[in-house]
Amino acid sequence: MDQQPERKTRFNFSMLGVEGAMLALLTSAIAEFFLNDFFAAASDLTYFAKLGRIAAVFLTVFAIHRFASVSLATYRPAFKDAWWLSLVLAMTLLLIWAGRIITIGLVNYPGTVRLLGVIQTDALLFALPFATGALLLQAVLGLHYGLVFSAILTIIVGLYFPNASVAAPFVLVTTLVACLSLSRFRSRSAYVRAGMNVSLVAFPMALAASLVSGNLDSMTLVLSLCGALLSGILCAFIAAGVTPIIEYFGGYVTDMRLIEMATLDHPLLKELSIQAPGTWNHSMVIGMMVEGAAEAIGANPVLSRVSAYFHDIGKIKKPLYFVENQAGDDNRHDRLSPSMSALIIRSHVKEGLELAAKHKLPRPIADMIPQHHGTNRIEFFYDKACKEARENGEDSEEIDENLYRYPGPKPQTREAGLLMLADGIEAAARTLAEPTHDRIQGLVQKLINKVFSSGELDESDLTLRDLHLIAKSFTRVLTGIYHQRIAYAEPAEKTNEDSLTEAPAHGADASGNDKEREENKEDLKRLGL
Ligand SMILES: [Fe+2]
Ligand SMILES: [Fe+2]
Repeated sequence: MDQQPERKTRFNFSMLGVEGAMLALLTSAIAEFFLNDFFAAASDLTYFAKLGRIAAVFLTVFAIHRFASVSLATYRPAFKDAWWLSLVLAMTLLLIWAGRIITIGLVNYPGTVRLLGVIQTDALLFALPFATGALLLQAVLGLHYGLVFSAILTIIVGLYFPNASVAAPFVLVTTLVACLSLSRFRSRSAYVRAGMNVSLVAFPMALAASLVSGNLDSMTLVLSLCGALLSGILCAFIAAGVTPIIEYFGGYVTDMRLIEMATLDHPLLKELSIQAPGTWNHSMVIGMMVEGAAEAIGANPVLSRVSAYFHDIGKIKKPLYFVENQAGDDNRHDRLSPSMSALIIRSHVKEGLELAAKHKLPRPIADMIPQHHGTNRIEFFYDKACKEARENGEDSEEIDENLYRYPGPKPQTREAGLLMLADGIEAAARTLAEPTHDRIQGLVQKLINKVFSSGELDESDLTLRDLHLIAKSFTRVLTGIYHQRIAYAEPAEKTNEDSLTEAPAHGADASGNDKEREENKEDLKRLGL
């Protein structure tokens, strides 16, 4: 199932992507443009030497990009991503250039000389905001983009600051710490805390640099250490200001933005809770399921949870046609033909997309609306249509299956795959008459196997190992919710509600017959539970 690594591990020249070439070309040209004059005795360099330096950066960047594309699971830059990576690198180099100009001006300013004496320019080298780009890329594109940025910037600084031997390790350490710090913190204060971490690690690095260079005269050392402390705060300040700009113009969505949306204050979620309380509840439970499972498999838990909240917003339009919002015996589908019922059920995807566009939901959230059903068939109404055709003496083969299928696409990400699985499993788990741990576990396994073998997860990058971890996580969350319920309330009557849900997986329940128990045992064995 996990075929992507195999496809990409063998190098051949046809793989030389345009993204890598663009990234390498832009980076090498911009580095030469901004940092040319910082090179020792730059004026003595011939054009050939400068060309050689550009070529060295070009090849290094290209090699790092290719290596990361092949080896890092979440580094798959499309043209737009490579463009923004180049832009962030360019912005960081511009910041270094501007910072360098300011520090040179400061140390040579007569007032500074009078006050502090003669200071070396490199005393303030560690105050430059090297880690800004790492913070930005981590926030917008993820950890592996930050890692690629770190490697590229380290090489560039090593090449253009040859006299400061610790500058390159300094850049590597501070940028890596910046990436890791931001990935751990998912709140408004994330940048501040990440900046503080950068400062904390920059301080000993600056001290080490002073020891290596033997620059231990007191004023230079003090300025160097103060500059290191300042650099982290500076990076955090700039990154926090620039992130919303990249979000807006790049169409990206950061975890911080998602967390804002997860507060349930969004007008769409409020409307969903009023118009379709059953769907709202279903979405909240799925949110818990996918968040836990995403953490277990290393997917994005915040994106998963928020997508779950919004995945069925299209049901706001006709809530009573969906089983989770129906109370009593009134079933509107009884008065409709199967094809009309299927049309209404299918339309919640289209209406969800329209609402997403109207409310300007971020693209990754809107994409989940059609993908959570993939190209599944609405089994209940398809079967009903076949049955009616047979009863009328018609050929059930002539029924247009496309009328009963969701338009797709299939889940394209691990988070979307998770959502599809949770959607079907939650709906089926509600109908379990006695939701014991074993019954829930059996149901989860059965439905995961069913979705997997239907081929709907083929484009989602989920591996068999992921499915195993997802099954364990879903079982734990659902047992916590539904098993507790029977301890305090009257056992729920088994209903036929499951038959009206949309995904084929929704049709399953735990009838408790021997055949099903045997099947469940088989499923458990298959996934090693
Ligand atoms: Fe749905
Ligand atoms: Fe749903």
